[in-house]
Formats: sequence, structure tokens, C-alpha cells
Amino acid sequence: MTRIQFQVDDQRCILCGECALDCPMGVIVIDDGPPRMANEAGCIRCQHCLAVCPTAAISILGKNPDDSILLAGNLPEPERLATLIKGRRTVRRYRDQDLAPERIDELLNIACHAPTGVNAASVLFTVVRERAELHRLRDYLIGRLAELQAAGKLPGGLAGNYLGWVVKAWQEHGQDIMFRGAPHLLITSAPAAAPCPAQDTIIALTTFQLIAQAHGIGTVWDGICMMALAACPETAARLGIPADHALGYTMAFGEPAVEYHRAVQRGPALVNVVKGAF
Ligand SMILES: Cc1cc2nc3c(=O)[nH]c(=O)nc-3n(C[C@H](O)[C@H](O)[C@H](O)COP(=O)(O)O)c2cc1C
Repeated sequence: MTRIQFQVDDQRCILCGECALDCPMGVIVIDDGPPRMANEAGCIRCQHCLAVCPTAAISILGKNPDDSILLAGNLPEPERLATLIKGRRTVRRYRDQDLAPERIDELLNIACHAPTGVNAASVLFTVVRERAELHRLRDYLIGRLAELQAAGKLPGGLAGNYLGWVVKAWQEHGQDIMFRGAPHLLITSAPAAAPCPAQDTIIALTTFQLIAQAHGIGTVWDGICMMALAACPETAARLGIPADHALGYTMAFGEPAVEYHRAVQRGPALVNVVKGAF
């Protein structure tokens, strides 16, 4: 693991104290001189000290503050971000082509900025980068589901209904209900022992979805794939997901073959205002 390497540039530091004030763990202290790291073991590596310093005087984890993106003047207009959020759609029609690996990596390297509980930053993005690979996974899963179905071992209830539909649609019509014809798949997982694996993995995918949308890349949260992975638990290891990881969720994605021209109309939000309860 990277060492903390907390360093202060004395020429730049104006002793404003913001780094110490903003440190969530209270491990930066200012005595007589410049700020110092008082407890490396207590640092959660969130880099708030680097981010909050007005004069870019603080370096941590070997990061040069001058390499950070400046926020002033670079943030999106709220209305545009709202349009992105409202205009996002689940995409269920895809072009039969792979995205360039660099484009996928670019999205993942943004998605990994999503928050994680206690800044664990331990979400693993398992990605299927080639559609030929995804086709093999689809064939494997549907084959296994068909076997389970023939043996009367598909799960009951909603999952069984959906998985039965997946098998039938594929076998009778060549229709891919599981991945909706998307060329790529993303699966998030995190160590089960992490502070918040369930939340971290979902937030990571939500973040991925938004940046993908901003790049014109379509996504679909893939509950059916989750059901299939639960029914065929050996698959996770074959995908290279560590045994001590909890699965988060799956999301299929790729170049959309559909264009939405307007947002849908939802809301108002269901709101429960707490007032006078205590
Ligand atoms: C947790 C979750 C699981 C989902 N699973 C699937 C799925 O397996 N297949 C699918 O086509 N859509 C799936 N969806 C997409 C929803 O059906 C979709 O979000 C909803 O119909 C609203 O449409 P919109 O996303 O375009 O606003 C899922 C969405 C969520 C949040």
C-alpha cells in the first residue's frame, strides 16, 4: 500500500488551517509551524487536505497538487447536469460493435472517484471488454440455466420466471434478454469485510452510469444477470472475482442503437418531511 507521504510546501503554505479543520479523522495538527501528520495509521487517505488547500501546498500519497483538476470554472451548469440525470434511459438496443478499450478504461478511471465507506476504495470493476467474450459468458449462463430448468432446479418466484424467460427467448427467438444485446458487462464487487461493500459497489456503478451517459454510451442495470449469477454461483470465480468479495451488481453497456429525444416526466419525489418529531 502507498505510504502516506504527507508533505507541506513551506513556501506555499499560508497557515490557514483548512487542512486540519477539514481532515475527517483529525490526524493533521498545526502547532507552531506548518501542518503536520500526527497519526499516519489514522489517515483514511481521502486527500481532503490536498483538495482543500487554497495554495496547493499539500502533497499526500505522492500526489502533486498541481496535477489535480481545478474546480473553479470547470464544473457543469446545474441545469445541464439535471438534464443528464433526467435524460438518462435504460438502453436495451445496442450496436454490434466493441467500444475501444481506452474509452472503457477512461470511464472506469472516473467511476473509481465515487465515494466509499471509510474511503475503503476497494471496489473491483470486473469488465468484459470484448463482445465475443460476453457472447461466451451468455452462452455459458443460458446453457447452465437450461440445465437447471430441465432438472427442475431453477429458483422459484420472480427469479425463476425471469430466468425461464431468458432461456426461452434465447432458444426460440435468439433474443438476448439477459444482456439486451450489449457488447460489454461491468460487475462491481468489494471485499465482504470492507465497511460498506453493498453501498460502495452500487454507488460505483451509479457513477459509471452517469459518466457513460455523458459520453453517449448506453447502460442497463442488469438484474437478470445478477439472478443468473446467483443461480450459477461458480461463475463468479471463473470471471476472476475473488472468493472473499461480495458481488455488488452488474451493468451491461455499449454504443446505443437507440436515441431518446426527450426526458421522461417523473416526480414529484416522494418526500417525508420530519418536523416536530423530537
Ligand atoms: C437494480 C435494477 C435492476 C434492473 N435490472 C434490469 C434488467 O435486468 N433488465 C432490464 O432490461 N432492465 C433492468 N433495469 C432497468 C429498469 O427496468 C429501468 O430503470 C426502469 O424501467 C426505468 O427506466 P429508465 O431507467 O429508462 O428510467 C434495472 C434497474 C435497476 C435499478
